Amino acid sequence: MKLSAILLLGLTGFSLAHPGHVESEKELIYKRNYNAVTRRGLSACAEQIEKRGINARAKARRAATFEKYRRSLKVRDPDVIANTSHLSTEGFTPNTPASDVFGESNNCVINPDGETGPFWVKGEHLRTNVRETQSGIPIVIEGQFLDIETCAPLTDVWWDMWSCNSTGVYSGAIGSGNGNENDLANINTTFLRGIQKTDSDGVATFESIFPGHYSGRATHHHIALHANATVLPNNTLTGGSFTHVGQLFWDQDIISKVEATYPYNMNNISITENAVDHVFTVETTNTTSDPVFNYAYLGDELADGLFGWITIVVNTSATYDPGYSFVLTEEGGIAQSGGSS
Ligand SMILES: *[C@@H]1O[C@H](CO)[C@@H](O)[C@H](O)[C@H]1NC(C)=O
Ligand SMILES: *[C@@H]1O[C@H](CO)[C@@H](O)[C@H](O)[C@H]1NC(C)=O
Ligand SMILES: *[C@@H]1O[C@H](CO)[C@@H](O)[C@H](O)[C@H]1NC(C)=O
Ligand SMILES: *[C@@H]1O[C@H](CO)[C@@H](O)[C@H](O)[C@H]1NC(C)=O
Ligand SMILES: *[C@@H]1O[C@H](CO)[C@@H](O)[C@H](O)[C@H]1NC(C)=O
Ligand SMILES: *[C@@H]1O[C@H](CO)[C@@H](O)[C@H](O)[C@H]1NC(C)=O
Ligand SMILES: *[C@@H]1O[C@H](CO)[C@@H](O)[C@H](O)[C@H]1NC(C)=O
Ligand SMILES: *[C@@H]1O[C@H](CO)[C@@H](O)[C@H](O)[C@H]1NC(C)=O
Repeated sequence: MKLSAILLLGLTGFSLAHPGHVESEKELIYKRNYNAVTRRGLSACAEQIEKRGINARAKARRAATFEKYRRSLKVRDPDVIANTSHLSTEGFTPNTPASDVFGESNNCVINPDGETGPFWVKGEHLRTNVRETQSGIPIVIEGQFLDIETCAPLTDVWWDMWSCNSTGVYSGAIGSGNGNENDLANINTTFLRGIQKTDSDGVATFESIFPGHYSGRATHHHIALHANATVLPNNTLTGGSFTHVGQLFWDQDIISKVEATYPYNMNNISITENAVDHVFTVETTNTTSDPVFNYAYLGDELADGLFGWITIVVNTSATYDPGYSFVLTEEGGIAQSGGSS
């Protein structure tokens, strides 16, 4: 695809999905440069990642997480599950040597997309389970964060995760394109948002539901990574900086299966597929980045849930300023104009 086409797609998609924010050409150029730099950095990481045993521990951890969350006992071998990648054409497994996984066509995310979207809410709760009373396909998602300079796990950073619910609405935000604009009570909701600190392997986990979709966007999760933040007594974060902002996706075929179930199928907004999504396009063009969850069924049926995992390599020298329009406070959600972190 030609550059002009990419830019056009990006800007068009943006104005559709995110009224009020137009990505500057500068941001797009920055992303392309970043991708070029990180591609070189990653190959240099491969040996270190293997030496540190990150892959071996990742395998054991995934098996343990699978055992903890799976519902049915007559299921596949955890090894088979853990060996399954969404990248069927590449055939990577957790046992694939790091030199392959982190080589030219790795399955991890390395590029920030710089797009926070309009619905990041500042001040959310630290918690693993973000489901509250939302109905949908249960998921457990695991992100492993690695430092692109040292290849070491990024410990003590905070994954701020948010997604829309099964019928395409974000909590804590009122606005055009976010469900019923007249549902003012939605400003006080917090479902499907949370923050988790990474452990010694650079891993953070959420229990959520598979996101639905809204107009102009493929199914996705948001990610913002806080560094050097401080935990307040009420279990929220303050201070620090953002070293990564991006979005994570799922395979189109699993999205179709989920969308055919209730209550996803109550949403009559037409589906935007990954292949034509502007953020997916930016995150996957001219980069070794693969922003799609590897996943496994937690039981025999989709309704039992899915386990998703992804590795995200971060350049901690980068800083981002995710804009926001809503803040969660002890008095509930509050709308802000032109907020900045
Ligand atoms: C992708 O790479 C090709 C070939 O180097 C280049 O012509 C094109 O401009 C690049 N596109 C983007 C979006 O970086
Ligand atoms: C990380 O970002 C810094 C600052 O933008 C840049 O100088 C450096 O080359 C990047 N490192 C890698 C490995 O991409
Ligand atoms: C998992 O992958 C490893 C290495 O590719 C292989 O030796 C093993 O047999 C696989 N396990 C299963 C159950 O397929
Ligand atoms: C999604 O959230 C909106 C806003 O709170 C709510 O009206 C809608 O019922 C939710 N969808 C489901 C399936 O619960
Ligand atoms: C949000 O919650 C606060 C605190 O409980 C309350 O004062 C406010 O009226 C609520 N807002 C809406 C729109 O329901
Ligand atoms: C979508 O569904 C709602 C509720 O059933 C209905 O009011 C609305 O007209 C539908 N919209 C379209 C475009 O079909
Ligand atoms: C966090 O703080 C330490 C100590 O001040 C500093 O060296 C480091 O660069 C900071 N990390 C980030 C990502 O800002
Ligand atoms: C948490 O505490 C901070 C500092 O007192 C406060 O500003 C914020 O509103 C509180 N957040 C919630 C959700 O209670």
